[in-house]
Amino acid sequence: MKSSTKGVYTLPGNKEKLALLEKKNQEALLGGGKDRIAAQHKKGKLTARERIHLLLDEGSFQEIDKFVMHRCKDFGLDKEYYLGDGVITGYGEIHGRLAYVFSQDFTVFGGSLSETHAEKICKIMDMAMKNGAPIIGLNDSGGARIQEGVNSLGGYADIFYRNTLASGVIPQISAVMGPCAGGAVYSPAITDFILMVEETSYMFVTGPNVVKTVTQENVTAEELGGASAHSVKSGVTHFSCTNEVDCIKHIKSILSYIPQNCEDDAPIYPYDLKEDESRKILDSVIPENPNHPYDMREVVHGIVDEDSFLEVHKNFADNMVVGFARIAGRSVGVVGNQPQSLAGVLDNDASVKAARFVRFCDCFNVPLLVLVDVPGFLPGTDQEWNGIITNGAKLLYAFSEATVPRITVITRKAYGGAYDVMNSKHIGADLNFAWPTAEIAVMGAKGASEIIFRKEIAKSDQPDEKLQEKIDQYTKKFANPYKAAHRGYIDEVIIPSTTRQKLISGFKMLQNKVDVLPKKKHGNIPL
Ligand code: HXC
Repeated sequence: MKSSTKGVYTLPGNKEKLALLEKKNQEALLGGGKDRIAAQHKKGKLTARERIHLLLDEGSFQEIDKFVMHRCKDFGLDKEYYLGDGVITGYGEIHGRLAYVFSQDFTVFGGSLSETHAEKICKIMDMAMKNGAPIIGLNDSGGARIQEGVNSLGGYADIFYRNTLASGVIPQISAVMGPCAGGAVYSPAITDFILMVEETSYMFVTGPNVVKTVTQENVTAEELGGASAHSVKSGVTHFSCTNEVDCIKHIKSILSYIPQNCEDDAPIYPYDLKEDESRKILDSVIPENPNHPYDMREVVHGIVDEDSFLEVHKNFADNMVVGFARIAGRSVGVVGNQPQSLAGVLDNDASVKAARFVRFCDCFNVPLLVLVDVPGFLPGTDQEWNGIITNGAKLLYAFSEATVPRITVITRKAYGGAYDVMNSKHIGADLNFAWPTAEIAVMGAKGASEIIFRKEIAKSDQPDEKLQEKIDQYTKKFANPYKAAHRGYIDEVIIPSTTRQKLISGFKMLQNKVDVLPKKKHGNIPL
């Protein structure tokens, strides 16, 4: 710095040094500049910094690598530099608990990922791993920095590798708040939860133009990979959020149910001990006609702490309900068949949805509550050809290997293989309860009677009456929980309205459960 009038160079004083730092700080805060920030706002999007400030407790954000710049000199990049290089990284607190965050800055080269941008992300991922705290990625990026070529691709792979190593060690959450395309999608895909913002975010491996060229399909970015497509059709995203504020609220909410790392326990929240009369609804929730539907969410609300249910994957495979809740202030993962949709049958999507959630809960010491009303697996070529054998096995495997406390409540049907799969005693559940309305059998009474009494019915002068007689016989024998209770497969048949109390004492009893799987490198879940 030139500070002499006589042509002599003197070193800057401390005041000038402080001023230089301030200037650089101000420059970094501006990202790609005022115009690009205005353009970001015009699209209805917040900036990378605004998102961080919404996410973290006030004043807790500590930024790292604010002055990092790219090293590429090709295609004009030797003349264009921005402090921070398109991603803001650091740590702070969420509800008083440590969290690491990276937030891609679309105002700098469209948030595209350069070698140095990737290094910044990797640095805080490494810190999150060493210090055992969640990492949250706020994605808004045009993908690989095109000018950088393979350096950018390598940067992505460095992140994917760390995502994989961190899986099951620290919670990883990805919010997609803008574009996330090409190979870039694979970082969020490896993380535990993906959230998307409706109308302003999209994820796809190949965009609409490539789709048009290859398959001649005309599709918009929103139709192909918007929040709706991925929450309803593909199941890629777990939460479809109405706007960015809603998205950040959901991230904080997820964190409130889960521990900081795999060796930690989830936080415990205060709860109201007073037992509300509304729990009595459970005594009348099951319809008299066993073929009539009801909403399993009503059962969940009748059991868990008030307003504590956070449904995950709400819009996908709605014949299965999964989500976090609290029972007596402690987190549980709820998995329940939903009789209101496809009679609660297990199909490909429902099996995969539940299996993924069960595995998350098991990784992070969240006990499982399983609510069963399942008529079996969905028949048909669509299901078979799309792998119901493998997908059903995923759920069976996920429950079987889970070592967290596991309690099952059979509310109504538990038929066939689905009885085994839905956290039965035989695959390691700790406590299995059934309501008096439970029906536990190989199959429904009509199907069973048609098979085992086929000859008798065929010989009868009045086959319809004979069939009904046999159905009644079968129903009387098996459409109840007592055969299973006689054998100890059900630990207790309980009055529905006492379920919450039974679960409070059950989970308390299981609090110090220790269960160890046989020594292995890792299992081979049927993927
Ligand atoms: C460098 C990029 C960029 C990129 C955008 N920009 N994407 N710079 N590399 N990948 C720059 C633009 O030049 C522009 O700079 C600014 O970011 C904003 O971009 P716009 O196009 O003006 O914004 P918008 O109209 O909102 O469109 C956003 C977009 C579009 C849809 C993301 O920019 C786009 O299609 N970008 C290219 C996407 C892409 O093909 N990426 C590579 C994918 S392959 P100025 O200076 O004008 O502000 C990939 C492989 C990863 O990612 C593999 C990992 C294994």
